[in-house]
Amino acid sequence: MAFVHITRRERFSAAHRLHRPDWSDARNLEVFGKCSNPNWHGHNYELWVTVKGEQDPATSFVVDLSALSRLINTHVIDYLDHKNIDLDVPFMKGRLSSTENLAVAIWEQLAGPVAELGCTLHAVKVKETENNHVEYHGA
Ligand code: NI
Repeated sequence: MAFVHITRRERFSAAHRLHRPDWSDARNLEVFGKCSNPNWHGHNYELWVTVKGEQDPATSFVVDLSALSRLINTHVIDYLDHKNIDLDVPFMKGRLSSTENLAVAIWEQLAGPVAELGCTLHAVKVKETENNHVEYHGA
């Protein structure tokens, strides 16, 4: 049996705004452009979670994908989907709601629970738009 990587995709829709409260509105607008719009904007995000591990000799699986999906939904999607990332999401409190910070926070949400499934978190990829995605590998 081999050591294999496997990826599960999930999706969520959420509102946010790039805004530093310690900066003036003018500075926020200069740095973040229309992403700093005071009345929010939204994205249809996609999230890819890659785990790695040894294949189970009986099933050939690295992980039960339905269990992985449930775990991602419980620890990440349920907090984010149809929410305002800046106002509603405990694990994003005090963090700029950039795609970079989202990827890091999602990693922090998932690393422990994924280990309980008997595999290791390898990558979190968050796609904000068709043209931009961020990938985090835990360091
Ligand atoms: Ni945005």
